Amino acid sequence: MPSPDATPLPGTPLDVTPLLETRGVTVRFGGHVAVDDVSLTVHAGTVTGLIGPNGAGKTTLFNTVTGLQKPTAGRVLIDGQDVTRTAPYKRARTGLARTFQRMELFLSLSVRDNLRVAGDIHGNGTRGAGTRRRRELEAETDRLLALTGLTDVAHMDVSDIPTGRARVVEVARALMTAPRVLLLDEPASGQTEQETADFAELLVRLAGEGLGICLVEHDLPLVMRVCSRIHVLDFGSLIASGTPVEIRNDPAVVAAYIGTEEVA
Ligand SMILES: Nc1ncnc2c1ncn2[C@@H]1O[C@H](COP(=O)(O)OP(=O)(O)OP(=O)(O)O)[C@@H](O)[C@H]1O
Ligand SMILES: [Mg+2]
Repeated sequence: MPSPDATPLPGTPLDVTPLLETRGVTVRFGGHVAVDDVSLTVHAGTVTGLIGPNGAGKTTLFNTVTGLQKPTAGRVLIDGQDVTRTAPYKRARTGLARTFQRMELFLSLSVRDNLRVAGDIHGNGTRGAGTRRRRELEAETDRLLALTGLTDVAHMDVSDIPTGRARVVEVARALMTAPRVLLLDEPASGQTEQETADFAELLVRLAGEGLGICLVEHDLPLVMRVCSRIHVLDFGSLIASGTPVEIRNDPAVVAAYIGTEEVA
């Protein structure tokens, strides 16, 4: 018999089980409520936005989803499975990957080696493993370098490439773990206009291959362009969920976040 956890929230698209779901997640730091009763979903094959002002609780929610932060209340489900009490490394094995707002790359390693390390960890270490597995990992590294447009800088140390491209290295590295759900925390920060345009194409392509992507980003034109749904946090609470057009025209969102900024 399916567990009650497998039941999606009513009203989710097509009532398909979401790849990622938070149910009533609350995180308190002492008397401060950083995340307040947040229920949201991310579906396979979509880019879902998570936006809101500085300090709204976006990174804290990501930390809760990945298991770095214990929620005060609420549950986290991955593909219908309750993982609220599951260790972070085990959640990663269910197909959850992320990037960090402050990049966590190995700066003195090459771009290629940053991907290799992630592949090694994901494969539980390939030292002593067969040459076949090693060849598969190299092929996957090459494929992802090409897919993310990093082949030309693959040999360079991460410290020697522009920030905007290092952001893409973080995404490529996360992809080495073959995730089904990818959480991106301000991935376009530090990118040039052209890098962001390329990045938008990459996100749409990855979603097209079935990945569920949750995008935290202050670059609203990017969010509006690539997301099919957007959730908006303000002071820890979800104040709106909807399509880009709905979000852009939501008076509460405009008042709390978008303001009078022109959103293309
Ligand atoms: N470890 C912590 N201890 C205490 N307070 C924290 C901790 N982490 C975050 N906070 C607070 O929780 C709130 C939410 O922070 P969070 O970093 O999740 O916001 P955010 O939406 O990611 O903001 P930004 O857009 O600036 O990255 C803020 O008020 C922050 O100061
Ligand atoms: Mg943040």
